[in-house]
Amino acid sequence: MTNEQREDDRLRHLPVSVRQNFQINVLGEQVNMDSMRQYGLVRLAAAKAALFTLLVVAAVAMTAWQVLAQLPTPPETPSLEDKGVGPIKEVKLGAIDPQLAAKGEKVFATHCSVCHRLDSRYVGPPLRNVTKLRSPEWIMNMILNTNGMIMNDPVARDLVGKYGSIMTVSGIPPDDARAVLEYLRQVSEQQPKK
Ligand code: HEC
Repeated sequence: MTNEQREDDRLRHLPVSVRQNFQINVLGEQVNMDSMRQYGLVRLAAAKAALFTLLVVAAVAMTAWQVLAQLPTPPETPSLEDKGVGPIKEVKLGAIDPQLAAKGEKVFATHCSVCHRLDSRYVGPPLRNVTKLRSPEWIMNMILNTNGMIMNDPVARDLVGKYGSIMTVSGIPPDDARAVLEYLRQVSEQQPKK
């Protein structure tokens, strides 16, 4: 006779009131509440159940976050006539300069990628196609005169409402802003990485 069978046998002879003390726990095991209490195991079981619940909640939250991150951002209306507000009045564009774009990619990684992805919404809008939506002057003014843009440019102000967050960059030299613009022109001609 195994220990378990012996245990079952003994249970059968117990009065109902005592037998009710044996409960099925969350994991489907039969546990004796009296001895559980005695060894402080009730609290341990409660802690296990709480941890389990926490893990389930965390898993659900992470899945929800991932689903939300995949949601397509509503299409923006291009405003290529708008040059924005700030120090940049006119940018002359030639063919894309790969060296300048490479420098811009570094600036982007340091100063922009904290808030921007190319292909999905993050803290701020996705930027792969921003050169098709905004003029080069507007983009550079957004980098060099962010606060002025948010306060005085209607398109930038609308974006603040949409994204519920305010872009902050500081101390980007105009040359670096120009380099980022080149990088953004370059990525707009490339396919999103899958
Ligand atoms: C602290 C977070 C943050 C950082 C850092 C940041 N941005 Fe932004 N950006 C935003 C947010 C948020 C918006 C939407 C407008 C707003 O709410 O201010 C935005 C908007 C923009 C837009 C307009 C997008 C559109 O759809 O018209 C451009 C362009 C842009 N950012 C470029 C940059 C570049 C380039 C850098 C790096 C030099 C940068 N941002 C750094 C948060 C950030």
